[in-house]
Amino acid sequence: PPPQPGHPQMGQPYRQDPQSGGVEDQDADVVAGASGGIGQPLSLLLKASPLVDHLSLYDVVNTPGVTADLSHISSIAQIDGYLPADNGMAKAFKNADIVIIPAGIPRKPGMTRDDLFKINAGIVQGLIEGIADNAPDAFILVISNPVNSTVPIAAEVLKKKGKFNPKKLFGVTTLDVVRAETFVQQLTGTKDPSKTRIPVIGGHSGETIVPLFSKAEPSVNIPADKLDALTNRVQFGGDEVVKAKDGAGSATLSMAYAGFRFAEQVIKAARGETGIVEPTFVYLPGVTGGDEIAKETGLEYFSVPVELGKDGAQKAHNIVKEANDYEKKLLQKAYEGLKGNIEKGVEFVHNPP
Ligand code: NAD
Ligand code: LMR
Repeated sequence: PPPQPGHPQMGQPYRQDPQSGGVEDQDADVVAGASGGIGQPLSLLLKASPLVDHLSLYDVVNTPGVTADLSHISSIAQIDGYLPADNGMAKAFKNADIVIIPAGIPRKPGMTRDDLFKINAGIVQGLIEGIADNAPDAFILVISNPVNSTVPIAAEVLKKKGKFNPKKLFGVTTLDVVRAETFVQQLTGTKDPSKTRIPVIGGHSGETIVPLFSKAEPSVNIPADKLDALTNRVQFGGDEVVKAKDGAGSATLSMAYAGFRFAEQVIKAARGETGIVEPTFVYLPGVTGGDEIAKETGLEYFSVPVELGKDGAQKAHNIVKEANDYEKKLLQKAYEGLKGNIEKGVEFVHNPP
């Protein structure tokens, strides 16, 4: 039967409690691409979090089902979900606090992240336009690949709309940090891998990913003959999962964990917690301390440890200059790769194909 009035496909939000009145317009944490491989477990973690009181889900398919399912969880978050019909994106995004974007196609074996550009560039562009129009003050967390290009796309779209706040735009590179923590454990044997903090900087693809094991806290001792393999595993960890999934997509569960971990830190910082520092891919000229890093790298976008505060990125830490000689060589390669990826994103917005 055709959807009846009130059904989510008619553009009405699916609500946890239809009698309770609307929760839309109330500072939601939004997942855009919520029905996907990352979107669903990420939405689950957010729904279960005591830090989230209103979760709003948006996708081009299946949000009614995902929302109904999650709405039965007895956590504090009110939840509503939207499809594109009847201005659903605007309703989902209206006055959001945070929009997390895992929308777009994932890789299959043999593909690079850049191969996703053709489709995902337009998806990210459309979603960012929706954010500019409906939630210009939101923190924007971009997961969609290729991150090295989709973040510049987001920035250029926001600039065009006069809504760009560089302190609130983040490329999510936390999965690289999580992988570095995990893989190094096999050499250190520490019980809890997440207790070793390893800055991973640069971008989010292959050789643009640069783990700085020399800056690990507490320090780690990696045998010289193991360092190449360890570095390579962090840089190409995504390929490991793509290969194992054998055509069924790329990392989703570990990404949901990483995306949630980063989002949690952004939320805590926004609520006034201090001392939170996370590596993330940012527009350097717009963040305090970023100019120095831009000069050193020759790039406007780069992932470095960023101090998060109430208003977003407060300070970019110039860890680049602290890299050892081995890491400096890796960084040179990262600069080369990133330059083209960034230019491609900027170009897409200014000279659409
Ligand atoms: P998926 O195909 O399982 O899910 C993507 C979802 O996006 C789908 O539900 C789809 O309907 C939705 N979507 C498509 N167009 C949309 C639009 N215009 N508006 C809203 N939703 C839309 O893919 P996935 O495995 O969840 O991966 C999503 C993206 O995340 C991919 O680009 C992937 O490469 C990327 N990714 C990034 C990282 C990272 O570290 N940053 C890690 C893993 C995956
Ligand atoms: C990852 O690092 O797992 C993601 O970027 C997905 C991919 O394509 O590898």
